Amino acid sequence: MDLSLIAKYDRPIPRYTSYPPVPFWTGAPSAAAWSQGITEHYDPKRGVDLYVHIPFCQELCSYCGCHRVITKNLSRQDSYVEALIKEWSAKIQGPFNGQFPCVNSIHFGGGTPNFLSSDNFEKLINHLTQGGKSPHFIGAVEIDPRTIKEEHLAIFKKLDLSRVSLGIQDFDARVQSEIKRIQPFSLIEALFKTLRASNFESINFDLIYGLPAQTEATIKDTFDKVLSLGPDHIAFYSYAHLPGKLKNQLLIKEQLLPRGVDKFRLFMLARSILNASSYIDIGMDHFARPGSPLSQAFSERRLKRSFMGYTVQKSNILIGLGASSISASPVAYVQNEKDVKIYEATCLQGNLPHTVGHVLSSQDKEAEALIQDLMCHGDVILSDSQKNDIQTLLKEDLQEFIKDGLLQFSGDQMILTDKGRPFMRNIAALFDHHLRERQVGTTGPRFSQSI
Ligand SMILES: C[S@@+](CC[C@H](N)C(=O)[O-])C[C@H]1O[C@@H](n2cnc3c(N)ncnc32)[C@H](O)[C@@H]1O
Ligand code: SF4
Repeated sequence: MDLSLIAKYDRPIPRYTSYPPVPFWTGAPSAAAWSQGITEHYDPKRGVDLYVHIPFCQELCSYCGCHRVITKNLSRQDSYVEALIKEWSAKIQGPFNGQFPCVNSIHFGGGTPNFLSSDNFEKLINHLTQGGKSPHFIGAVEIDPRTIKEEHLAIFKKLDLSRVSLGIQDFDARVQSEIKRIQPFSLIEALFKTLRASNFESINFDLIYGLPAQTEATIKDTFDKVLSLGPDHIAFYSYAHLPGKLKNQLLIKEQLLPRGVDKFRLFMLARSILNASSYIDIGMDHFARPGSPLSQAFSERRLKRSFMGYTVQKSNILIGLGASSISASPVAYVQNEKDVKIYEATCLQGNLPHTVGHVLSSQDKEAEALIQDLMCHGDVILSDSQKNDIQTLLKEDLQEFIKDGLLQFSGDQMILTDKGRPFMRNIAALFDHHLRERQVGTTGPRFSQSI
């Protein structure tokens, strides 16, 4: 790899978990317009996908960029679960005429979903799925290995939450101490064995590169341990360090952060270890074992990039429940209130907790489809207007990517090369007309570095 490319392309860029990215949203649709958009696109055979955000964590990890509330008070879950139940009942009124729709998938994210008791999981899922589950229902849940209990695993099996994701981050003791997330390998190994023995459908590990005190030696050791267990999927995120926005990251020692070329080498080392062990690259920062659900979805072009990272495409309607969660239809996005207390009060009064949002223009829809194809499949068939853009606006920029060996063209098809895969955010940014139109700097939105 030509390391001069890092200096050239390492800059603040959106992660494109939505298009347009949230800082470029221009305003939520009215409740009536939101409902109408769903009614028009709802197909009972395809159902809806649900994302449920559980914001509570018992301890703060200093690197954390997630939306969460730190509390040891477990009783806070009760009013929150009541609010989630009320929210789902409110959300079906307009779009589904008060009828509960069929649910294709539920993804529990956080925060820490296993902050909830097993009884609350059961109560909540029974309420959410009273319109039925699709025959190919997918249930997924993020697990904090430090606080998960056996009773949780039993209820996850019973309720078909069969795809689990473990927050690992790094196995090195020094790195764990620097990020204030102590969880020894023995703890993960025991949990992993239990999950395998209980036949969970797939196990994902979340790991991060660019954390304080990480070196090539610690990454090699971490990935040797990862491979000794052999999870089905691995998300290997670039550490997003934004201490101006995320105050908890002021606890991170800046002088210990690997940056630029040093950070990129960590990614490339892990990628080569994983590829040598038959894991395939799917998307920007995810890897999958052949035969796993995500690698099958990748080969069948059913992968989708969303707020949950890379998932399997099910319906075209995602309903987000819980503080800060985002809902998406083919015509608009809406985000829920982030403040947990305001969120709860709004739902308990029977109101929708929507705050910000965005109605997609035809230009947005076209760019969204292109960026999805690029980030999920690594290639794009260009439409006439995109070819026109390329001839006029983007010609020089694209030539640079081609010259650097990151991108190639074959007729109407634009193809990301293997070398170009780590730079896909940069290539996607070329087609982001909101980013092109805005000045991104001290006064513009803050994005994490692309590398
Ligand atoms: C939304 S968090 C919730 C997961 C769960 N609470 C846990 O930590 O086990 C999902 C994943 O995001 C990643 N993450 C959190 N903060 C990050 C940051 N600042 N930069 C990059 N990835 C981050 C971590 O890998 C984490 O497991
Ligand atoms: S990384 Fe996960 S467990 Fe840690 S504070 Fe953030 S959401 Fe909670």
